[in-house]
Amino acid sequence: MNKPLVLVGFMGCGKSTVGRLFAERRGWRFVDTDSWIERRADKPIRRIFAEDGEPRFREMERALLPTLLAESGIVIATGGGLPCHSGNMALIKQSAVSAFLSVPAETLLRRLRSETAQRPLLAEKTDAELLPWMRSKLVARLPFYQQAAATVEADAPLEEVLRRLGECC
Ligand code: S3P
Repeated sequence: MNKPLVLVGFMGCGKSTVGRLFAERRGWRFVDTDSWIERRADKPIRRIFAEDGEPRFREMERALLPTLLAESGIVIATGGGLPCHSGNMALIKQSAVSAFLSVPAETLLRRLRSETAQRPLLAEKTDAELLPWMRSKLVARLPFYQQAAATVEADAPLEEVLRRLGECC
């Protein structure tokens, strides 16, 4: 049985883009937890946050995890906050191979600037607030991300990130 491969890391680190291509090349299934939740809830993440609240969204993240981790031959791209609550990272480590896509805050910010509207945690922030917020959030989350079995330096061209991921997973 091929253990699931779970990608973790901050918003904008490339989990979905890298994960989709990696899965395609291995002939595995690809699931993005945000898309999964949006399909189940039948509304976008920003509306789930606005109408049901972040705690409800975190419950939905927790609830989907055992089902996905029970599959074999699957690449799972997680939402940036998923590994950091409810013992999710422990669960991931138990049943999957995991990789942290590590990207510096400045690069994340450059990638995310044009997409803040879709991301409820970024939507309300001014340009001046974004970088300090991301830096401190990243510091708070690193202890969870760094529990992944592998760390891939992902501030690199896509093919290079895929190659690095392939070397460790
Ligand atoms: C979040 C990251 C988002 C999404 C939600 C909350 C976070 O996923 O789950 O907006 O807490 O960092 P991506 O990392 O795929 O953007």
